Amino acid sequence: MRQSLQAVRGMMDILPDEVEKWRFIEERARNLFRRFGYREIRTPLLEATELFARSIGEATDIVEKEMYTFYDAKGRSISLRPEATASIIRAFIQHQLHTTGDRKFFLLGPMFRHERPQKGRYRQFHQIDVEAFGIQDPMLDAELMFMARSFLDEIGVKEVSLEVNTLGCSVCRPGFRTVLQDYLNANVDHLCPDCVRRIPKNPLRCFDCKVPQCKEALAEAPLLINFLCQKCLSHFESVKSYLEQLSVPYVVNPRMVRGLDYYVRTAFEIVTTHLGAQNAVGGGGRYDGLMKDLGGPDLPGIGFALGIERIMLLMSGYQPSRENDVDVYLVLLGDSARRKGFQIAQELRKKGLSVEMDYDPKSVKSQMRSADRVGATVSVIIGDNELEQSIAQVRFMKEGIQRIYELSDMAAELVDIIKGAK
Ligand code: HAM
Repeated sequence: MRQSLQAVRGMMDILPDEVEKWRFIEERARNLFRRFGYREIRTPLLEATELFARSIGEATDIVEKEMYTFYDAKGRSISLRPEATASIIRAFIQHQLHTTGDRKFFLLGPMFRHERPQKGRYRQFHQIDVEAFGIQDPMLDAELMFMARSFLDEIGVKEVSLEVNTLGCSVCRPGFRTVLQDYLNANVDHLCPDCVRRIPKNPLRCFDCKVPQCKEALAEAPLLINFLCQKCLSHFESVKSYLEQLSVPYVVNPRMVRGLDYYVRTAFEIVTTHLGAQNAVGGGGRYDGLMKDLGGPDLPGIGFALGIERIMLLMSGYQPSRENDVDVYLVLLGDSARRKGFQIAQELRKKGLSVEMDYDPKSVKSQMRSADRVGATVSVIIGDNELEQSIAQVRFMKEGIQRIYELSDMAAELVDIIKGAK
């Protein structure tokens, strides 16, 4: 026997029962972001590898080992997008969107990272990503965090907390880097090989190491928050005060570093204790300077992304809507009635009703059972007798009432009754 084919490891099917919940999340996101002035954008799943290397950073886990990268027929290196920020900036630059006045965007869609799959961590996963360009004011930083929190509240995700940090800028970070490197070099015997390797290229990442020995070694490490330049300090103070004004609860986590290199100043994560090792529901921050580095105008930027699969695991109290209910089930007996019913089905659908029928000839009893199973509002019974008299028996399933309708005006009447009741 041939082995049956399976989905690629770490990539999940989303089956019809779950799709409703996905759409609920997506629709709530669209609705909320619109109120804050964000417009939807969609970019290709594939981009030049260089785009991610230049933005996320060569020395990050994502670029070093997690991207799905391959060469196309012309020998160009392309990658499945591991995140959306770089792609949105690329699109913004390519289409000169700064000339249009559009500066706030969101994107919903799949991302790809070759990580070890586990609960809440997949190789194809979906993000709700939000980006805003050209706004330097810390008011926006706070507003974005407020928006992310509001969204999670609206869809019933509770028990998350917001952690905020600042990662400095090109003025204050280089000095801190040297201080940190000195500290790490002095403690090198207590660090794991990965952290030792990170010292010259990406020392801040050591704060994110999960190895207990490294955590201990970093307990006394210097913190960037104590080395900020005046501008970064005042930006951070303003962000915090705006968060307080909007009553957004947060904690400052001075050890939080993000897994992407482009951040400056504000960085934040929304975390939970309910997802085991995958504690981040979302994360984001400022990346002033990135657009210019990628060849675009010198506009500041800030954004965040939430992981939809992780949100789904945390959603409580979601009631699926019943939008896929069947309005009419056609119970047809005999060839002529089936032929007529086939035509009636299309007429009713054109008028906006959802209609089901058994395509294969079956007994009335079995067809009525199907009507019950799908929760049809009415079943329309047509056999040879009915056809001869141009009528149909219409059974209102919940009420258990049966009435006779003329075929000529049945469609209009059913539309009135069913749509009127909705
Ligand atoms: P990120 O922290 O790498 O940030 O990812 C954001 C969120 O995507 C995570 O908090 C998590 O919920 C979800 N996520 C990441 N990897 C996986 C995975 N393997 N499986 C399931 N969910 C995952 C970014 O991607 C930045 N682009 C966010 C951003 C936007 N910063 C500024 N603008």
